[in-house]
Order: sequence, then structure tokens, then C-alpha cells
Amino acid sequence: MIRYLLLLMLAATTGSAVAQKGYTPSKENLAYRQQFQDNKLGVFIHWGIYSMLADGEWAMLQKKIPYEEYSKLAAGFAPSKFNAEEWVAALKAGGAKYICITSRHHDGFSMFGTGSSDYNIVDATPFKRDVLKELANACHKQGVKLHFYYSLLDWGRPDYNPKGVLAAKWTGPEQPGYNTYHRFMLSQLKELLTNYGEIGAIWFDGAWDKGKAFNWKFDELYTLIHSLQPACLIINNHHWAALEGEDAQAFERDLPGQNTAGFSHGVEVSALPLETCETMNGSWGYKITDNNYKSEKALIQYLVKAAGNNANLLMNVGPRPDGTLPEIAVQRFSAMGQWLQQYGESIYGTRGGPVAAHKWGVTTEKGTRLFVHILDLQDKALFLPLTGKKVRSARVFIDKKPVKFMQQKEGVLLLLEKQPDETDYVIELNI
Ligand code: GLC
Repeated sequence: MIRYLLLLMLAATTGSAVAQKGYTPSKENLAYRQQFQDNKLGVFIHWGIYSMLADGEWAMLQKKIPYEEYSKLAAGFAPSKFNAEEWVAALKAGGAKYICITSRHHDGFSMFGTGSSDYNIVDATPFKRDVLKELANACHKQGVKLHFYYSLLDWGRPDYNPKGVLAAKWTGPEQPGYNTYHRFMLSQLKELLTNYGEIGAIWFDGAWDKGKAFNWKFDELYTLIHSLQPACLIINNHHWAALEGEDAQAFERDLPGQNTAGFSHGVEVSALPLETCETMNGSWGYKITDNNYKSEKALIQYLVKAAGNNANLLMNVGPRPDGTLPEIAVQRFSAMGQWLQQYGESIYGTRGGPVAAHKWGVTTEKGTRLFVHILDLQDKALFLPLTGKKVRSARVFIDKKPVKFMQQKEGVLLLLEKQPDETDYVIELNI
């Protein structure tokens, strides 16, 4: 406790760019970082009262729905088909080792029984069930790690002030000061880290709203989290370089080092564990008109590319307002799970391999095993600029058939039996 108070005092004297000054991750934290990286695939769940509007989690702002009116949705939220055990079982069958669910999104509605505000699923809906509690129980029982998404931005609370880049779209009341809002977040985080058992990570989002210059007091938020659960990872989707006190780095819709979605411009890839989040269709929250689901092949290849870039994949699903997961999403997860049953050894527990990602594919490695994931190759041979390592043997991963190869100091030439046309043609090298 004294250490915690000292840390708080120290942190209070520093600016927002420094998050948790002098942070030394605990032994448990370092252990979970390793496990987190081994786990490779997680499922992101965006679920809230916005799912009733079936137009994504930004519907309130995008449709200019007055907050007063929007908040009345809560009184009709009754996801009668919600079954936490079934969700977890389905996602686990999809190969996911962890789940990250929205505990409170930008709309400010808490999906858990919080004592810090009445605007929550237990007090403000006829459903009255704490879905996070049920999910936490199911996850703990089925051996799936649970992470909580937590929004730093709140479109409803008058004390989320000053407003950031979204100020012009504001419809709710305003009140000066940020301190009460900050204290509200501290008390909610305390609840999330005390009442739901072991939490693998708190995944912050929304800091991009007021930007880097604003003093978010991450020092206090991070210190609280690490003091309550030292192993809990802090991940912050702020779209900046990682800050002190964070335990893993998030990339929104981008593989680390890329900037295809425009969120990661100039963001340095840190030495922390990395995680890329992506949507299965084009939306995070349930959107009834968005049936633009990525193919099984595209999803599997994205997972493989993430692994080859030394990152986890956090793949999203947006449950419906009745508590069911869209069948097509479950089917896609099931396909990923089936593929992982065969190929999981070349993904789980690996790290990005020594050959940088190429157009043809990526590499992953585990000890002396190097997995070459060929995703798109026009030839029957593949040159790997693999220097300083002696290749002892090469074989096709799936049927263990030997693969001919030639090694010289510039690298290794793999001579394949055919031009690969699989989703992922995996060659295993022993080095
Ligand atoms: C963005 C969106 C948010 C979503 C998040 C997921 O920050 O604002 O709605 O939850 O991305 O990465």
C-alpha cells in the first residue's frame, strides 16, 4: 500500500506522456506476457446496447442520436438467448485462447454490475444479469483468458471534459472538470479487477480523442491496475508509441510496422508483445447490413501473417441484441479452429521468424524449428535469405515428406514438389 501511495505521489508530478514512471513488470506479469504471446489468437467482442440499433458501436454519434434518447435503449435491453458457456465453447473451438470484451464502450454504458454508475446492465435493463460475471465464470471454467476493453472516452458523462476531437458531435450535458470522471474510472477499474477473478488485460481505447497533450493521468490508472493484479497486462489503443507502464502494444487493423488502416502512421514497433485487432466483416459492433465477411482463407492467412510479424491476432465478433453470435462468424471461427487443429504447432507458442515478411508469406519459429508459411508463391522454388543458420533438414509440415534444399552463405533455396496452392503451405526446417 505504501509503495502504491509513493508511486502515486511520484506519478502526480509527471506529465501524461510518462505513464507509470519507473515501472518494473512483476514476475507474474512477465510470465503472462509470454503466455499471451504463445496464445496467438484472441476474440474481440463488441457488445452493448448499441447492438439493438444494429448499426455498429458508433451509431449514437454517427446518427446524431441525442444522448437522452439513446440512453433509453437500456430499458429495452433483454438478450434472452445469451449463454456465456456457449459463447466461450464456440470461440474456444475456433482456436481462441482469450477473449477481450467491451466492459464499457464510448457510449458510456457499462456491461457489468458497477456501483459507480446506475447506467449499467444490472441496474438499467430488464435483463438485470451481469454478463461480464457470467462470461468470467465461463472463461475461468473453460480455461480461456479474459481481457476487458475499457473506453477512456465517454459520450454521455458531463464530466468527460474538456471534449476532444469529437466535441462537435456532442449531444449530452456538460460540466466542468475532469477529476470526477477520472475518479469514476479508477473506481470502475477497481471493480473490474476485484470482482471478476483473474483478468489477463485491460485494453484501453479512446485516448486518441484528446490526444497526447492531455493529461490522462495514466500513471494513476496503470499503477492501480498493476497493484491490484500485477500480472494484468495494460494495452492501450492510443495509436502512439508504447508508454512506460504498458505491457503490450496494440495495432488497430494494421500488422505491426504497416499503416494500411491509417491508424499507425509513424508508430514505432516496440519490443513489447504485439497485438493486431481486426474485424471479421467491416464492423466492430453488430451491424445488420454488413455481411461483407472475409473468407476463411483470408482470415487464416491474416492470423498467419500476424504470427509471422510476431503479433497476436484479436479477431472481432459483434453479438446480436438477443445475445447470439452471428452464425457466419461462428462458422468462420470454426474454420479457423479446424485449421489450427492441424497447423497449430506452427502458430501457437511461436515467435516471428528470422526471415522478414515477404509477399510470398512469413516465417515463425519455436526453438530449433523454423516454419516457412507459403501463402502466395508463383514458383516451385523459394529462396530464403537465411544467413548464419545451418539447415539440417526440411520437410512438408503436414505429411512430413522431405523437401529438397540447397544452402549457401546467402541463404537457402527450397525446391518444392509443386507450386503451392494451399491456404498456407507450411515447410518445417530444422536449424
Ligand atoms: C476504434 C473505435 C472503436 C473500436 C476500436 C477497436 O478505436 O473507435 O469503436 O472499439 O477501434 O479497435
